[in-house]
Amino acid sequence: MNNNPPSGLPENAPFSHQQKVALQALLPSLNASQASWLSGFFAAISMGTAAGNGVGAAPVAVGHAPTAATIPLTILVGTESGNSEICAAKAKTAAAAAGFAVNVVDMGDYDQDKLAKEENLLVIVSTWGEGEPPQRAQAFYDWIMGDSAPKLEKTRFSVFALGDTSYADFCKCGKDFDQRLADLGATRFADRSMLTSTSILLLRSGGKLCCLGWLS
Ligand SMILES: Cc1cc2nc3c(=O)[nH]c(=O)nc-3n(C[C@H](O)[C@H](O)[C@H](O)COP(=O)(O)O)c2cc1C
Repeated sequence: MNNNPPSGLPENAPFSHQQKVALQALLPSLNASQASWLSGFFAAISMGTAAGNGVGAAPVAVGHAPTAATIPLTILVGTESGNSEICAAKAKTAAAAAGFAVNVVDMGDYDQDKLAKEENLLVIVSTWGEGEPPQRAQAFYDWIMGDSAPKLEKTRFSVFALGDTSYADFCKCGKDFDQRLADLGATRFADRSMLTSTSILLLRSGGKLCCLGWLS
């Protein structure tokens, strides 16, 4: 029997050899929508809720606790009426379950000097007015768009933009952050996603969490 761990999974993935062999056999056969379905399914299990897709999932004991969270993830939130905060809390739960050490910070409280040191950054931000940032995010927005913003070559990022399609500048602030972070040299770990009011309602009622797929 070949006792080498199968390739494709990290060596320290918390599975027995037998489990790794089974996963390795399964993973390459999944198409994108099956992988996405599974990510939502496991997000629901880790949050102890029955998620969408008609799955009535009860909390499941998964054996060993995950190893101590060592991968840093900063979730930077720009919000006016709290929806982005709800998303950030959901993303934090899912990311922590996936082994990330998560720090959620409001843009209004963020220490700009830390930005260039961020390894993994998830920006969750809404758009207000006519394509403007939320009030508390305005100063950070102005700073990052300006000449004194640092190069971000060490940073991996993704943007989760909230908005409403009835506005001409749909998700403009999220789009601006997405473009600017890339222009400063940061690397996207997933394409920008945009949430509309309907998606927010889904999240509020325990719907599938979109972020998890980005973080895996
Ligand atoms: C007065 C007002 C102005 C808004 N302007 C925009 C806009 O220009 N573009 C957009 O995509 N959404 C716009 N929205 C929708 C918000 O971005 C959306 O409700 C979002 O979920 C709010 O998230 P938050 O609670 O995190 O701030 C606006 C909403 C209000 C009430």
